[in-house]
Amino acid sequence: MKVSVIGTGYVGLVSGAVFAELGHDALCVDNDERKVKMLEQGHMPIYEPGLEELVAKNRAAKRLRFATTIQEAMEHGDVVFICVGTPPLPSGAPDLSYVDAVSRDIAKHLTKYRVIVEKSTVPVQTGEKVKLTISKYAKAGSEFDVVSNPEFLREGSAVADAFNPDRIVIGAETQRAKDMMLNLYDKFRDKCVVVDIKSSELIKHASNSFLALKISFINAVANICELSGADVTQVARGMGLDQRIGPQFLYAGLGYGGSCFPKDVDAFVDISAKLGYDFHLLREVQRINHVQLEKFLKKIEQELWMLRDKKIAVWGLAFKPNTDDVRESPAIKICAALRDAGAKVRAFDPKGQENAKSVLAGIEFSPDMWHALEGADLLAICTEWDEFRKADFARIKKLMAHPTIVDGRNIWDPVEMKKMGFAYRSVGR
Ligand code: NAD
Ligand code: UGA
Repeated sequence: MKVSVIGTGYVGLVSGAVFAELGHDALCVDNDERKVKMLEQGHMPIYEPGLEELVAKNRAAKRLRFATTIQEAMEHGDVVFICVGTPPLPSGAPDLSYVDAVSRDIAKHLTKYRVIVEKSTVPVQTGEKVKLTISKYAKAGSEFDVVSNPEFLREGSAVADAFNPDRIVIGAETQRAKDMMLNLYDKFRDKCVVVDIKSSELIKHASNSFLALKISFINAVANICELSGADVTQVARGMGLDQRIGPQFLYAGLGYGGSCFPKDVDAFVDISAKLGYDFHLLREVQRINHVQLEKFLKKIEQELWMLRDKKIAVWGLAFKPNTDDVRESPAIKICAALRDAGAKVRAFDPKGQENAKSVLAGIEFSPDMWHALEGADLLAICTEWDEFRKADFARIKKLMAHPTIVDGRNIWDPVEMKKMGFAYRSVGR
């Protein structure tokens, strides 16, 4: 099938490449000309494991192309995906102006029947607004359907997730649109769940919020562990063996970050309130997440007393491993707080360094993880990259002025660390 994707970011680029790999003829459109040029020259604007190879393979097979205008997207795709950003506004509501702008542009270039798919994460009832907007700005009598098809991929494993979906949610109103979406996802037909548009939109917000709730729950339990002397990793393991609970998303740490959970929980609270429901439970999830960062900073202060002029090495800047994305990264907030308190921060991240430089001033970026440690009074671990887990402890000790580690991701064993002579604190243990 011919598929167009509008917005070639983390979701759009992965989706376009995956559709191409499934045998469809995909056109990815972005109004960021620099990004499109990079892609056309074979360079990746983001780091995502396996994506570069997938894009190269499908470009060579001529199943994946790039363009800059929505006109081209509308001419090409029978199915047109909206994958633009829906970033948070200060009020907590998502900024839907990109979705609105794209919908108007789609209307302008709607000359034959098209299925317009909202893949961007949006509040319930947005589909109705997209439909109204397209109807209003398109020529009278234009034929189209609006479908909701939320995305569930995780950054860092997006390609693998796309080829192994737990479910593909399709919110559609007409049989024609449902059939086209099922044909598009033919390879995963047994994973397709067809529902109405509003339920589809809600599945996305409810899923992300539930996962965030799981994280805040285990972080709250971690606090009880610290107060009582229990070990949260053992508690989580014991809980997770119950199949009704499951082991995933029970890792205590610095709280959830990234471009989605914080934004989507905020947006779900916001739309609930607008609809007349106070989602107090989720407001508590947000609060616990916020406090978790403060608790981490307090541990650093307890180890160093005054932070002014103390040398602090920070390992990890990305919001999670295997991505270069630093949006809403707990690590960035920690670096900024330490900097503001007068500490001399040296940070390193294997992939997120360049993005971090554009949002974080007043700290030093190290060329590698070892350089960050030289003469450090304390090492703060903020992202659980594998290369940090496998680090040589003798080398860490030799480089640091004082072998003190505050680990926000529980990557090492506290007993072993103590044996090796480190002052080591982690989360909930
Ligand atoms: P992103 O910022 O990486 O990409 C969005 C892209 O849209 C940008 O490249 C931007 O230039 C482009 N764009 C904006 N306006 C445009 C226009 N008028 N015409 C053409 N292109 C335009 O965002 P993302 O992380 O890919 O997220 C996109 C949506 O998907 C969001 O709603 C997000 O919540 C949701 N989502 C993201 C993830 C994720 O892991 N990042 C996962 C699931 C869902
Ligand atoms: C998340 C969801 O997992 C995806 O299903 C969804 O599609 C995506 O949001 C989205 O809507 O954009 P992502 O943000 O890429 O994916 O990453 P996650 O692996 O979910 O991690 C999010 C945050 O939670 C990270 O900061 C991570 O460190 C933290 N986390 C995760 C924990 O603190 N503990 C855990 O047990 C799991």
